[in-house]
Amino acid sequence: MKISVIGTGYVGLVTGTCFAESGNDVICMDIDARKIEMLNAGIVPIYEPGLEELVKRNMAHDRLSFTTDMSKAVKKGEVIFIAVGTPPGEDGSADLKYVLGAAREIGKYMNGYKVVVNKSTVPVGTGDKVKAAVAGRTRFKFDVVSNPEFLKEGAAIEDFMKPDRVVIGTDSAKALEIMQELYSSFLRKGDRTLAMDVRSAEMTKYASNAMLATKISFINEMAAICAGLGADIDSVRKGMGYDKRIGFEFLFPGVGYGGSCFPKDVKALVQTAREYGVDAKVLKSVEAVNDRQKALLSGMIIRHFGGKDGKRAAGTGKPLSGRTIAVWGLSFKPRTDDMREAPSVVIINSLLRAGATIKAHDPVALDEARKIFRNRITLMDDDYETLRGADALAVVTEWSEFRTPDFHKIKKLLKKPLIFDGRNIYNQAELRKMGFTYYGIGRR
Ligand SMILES: NC(=O)c1ccc[n+]([C@@H]2O[C@H](COP(=O)([O-])OP(=O)(O)OC[C@H]3O[C@@H](n4cnc5c(N)ncnc54)[C@H](O)[C@@H]3O)[C@@H](O)[C@H]2O)c1
Repeated sequence: MKISVIGTGYVGLVTGTCFAESGNDVICMDIDARKIEMLNAGIVPIYEPGLEELVKRNMAHDRLSFTTDMSKAVKKGEVIFIAVGTPPGEDGSADLKYVLGAAREIGKYMNGYKVVVNKSTVPVGTGDKVKAAVAGRTRFKFDVVSNPEFLKEGAAIEDFMKPDRVVIGTDSAKALEIMQELYSSFLRKGDRTLAMDVRSAEMTKYASNAMLATKISFINEMAAICAGLGADIDSVRKGMGYDKRIGFEFLFPGVGYGGSCFPKDVKALVQTAREYGVDAKVLKSVEAVNDRQKALLSGMIIRHFGGKDGKRAAGTGKPLSGRTIAVWGLSFKPRTDDMREAPSVVIINSLLRAGATIKAHDPVALDEARKIFRNRITLMDDDYETLRGADALAVVTEWSEFRTPDFHKIKKLLKKPLIFDGRNIYNQAELRKMGFTYYGIGRR
């Protein structure tokens, strides 16, 4: 099938590449000329495990190409995916200017029947707006489909190729058939295609992300209560997770959720609910707990060194002045270089405000971090060197290489053996036996 993808970011590039890998003829378009130039040179502008190899292979087989030319992209595809960004507007609702801009352009250049598929995460009712935007510019027939994307950065290819489910929202039997055929190669072990109306498909995406964010804020709240009670969140989490109705997924206490999806999607759903007269009380609390969680680790560090919740300690200047904190992990989660809404940014900014000097290491996000922090912190290529002479180690993102480090080496490199474990990845009993002072999230 001939496929066009408008917007070649995380979702667009993975979508286009995976459809090419299953034998389709794909063109990916973006308005960012630098991105397209890099891709045409075989360089993948984002870090996503396995993606570069797939991009190169499909380019070599002439199944995948990249362009900035909207007209060429629209004319080629029978199925056109919109995968542009939907950032939050000022009131938290999703800003649709990129989606509707792309839809108008699609209408302008259409040369026959097309299936226009919305893969961006968009508020309920956007399907109708896309339909109107395309229809305003064309005399050709088309159908609009909502096909939200559920991939996870860091495991995006696996998620796309072996989806838990494919949601297809449309009122057109013809478009549904085309979409089912397109996805059939990914669903050979059983059809997990869910056909529904456009609005339900749009809502399914928000409801799914809102549920996952809720699980994270829920366990973080339980961790806060455990810390107060003297109970151990790790034991509590396991005790809960074996209940099949609850499960273990997304029940890890930490430094709060970040990334390009959960924060903006929860905000957008709160806003949509408000528009329809519903006060989304659970979701507002989910957000509030997450904000509190992002401030937790820096608060612990400041308190340890004698400051009071970030306020100046009387007569001693800023609470962390003269202190160096080594940070491991900057991306919002492991296996990605994405730093959008990353808890590390909130934590580091708070430590800087308290007067600390920051040295930080991340396996892949250093370039992204440089854009955010510039020269306000020292970015280190080597994980252990980051620790040399620092007053403490703060683990912010649970990359696998941080999970079983050489603690003897850490002890030697730090001024004093002190660890703030923002992801509860270490065995605190063992560390304490080794002479470390250890802080975790909601742990005894
Ligand atoms: N990143 C994820 O993990 C993820 C997962 C599921 C769904 N989503 C959703 O998918 C959508 C895209 O997210 P993303 O992370 O891929 O964003 P992104 O910012 O990585 O990519 C968006 C791309 O669209 C391009 N663009 C903007 N306007 C354009 C236009 N008119 N024509 C062509 N290109 C245009 C931008 O230059 C950019 O390259 C969002 O709605 C997001 O919520 C993201």
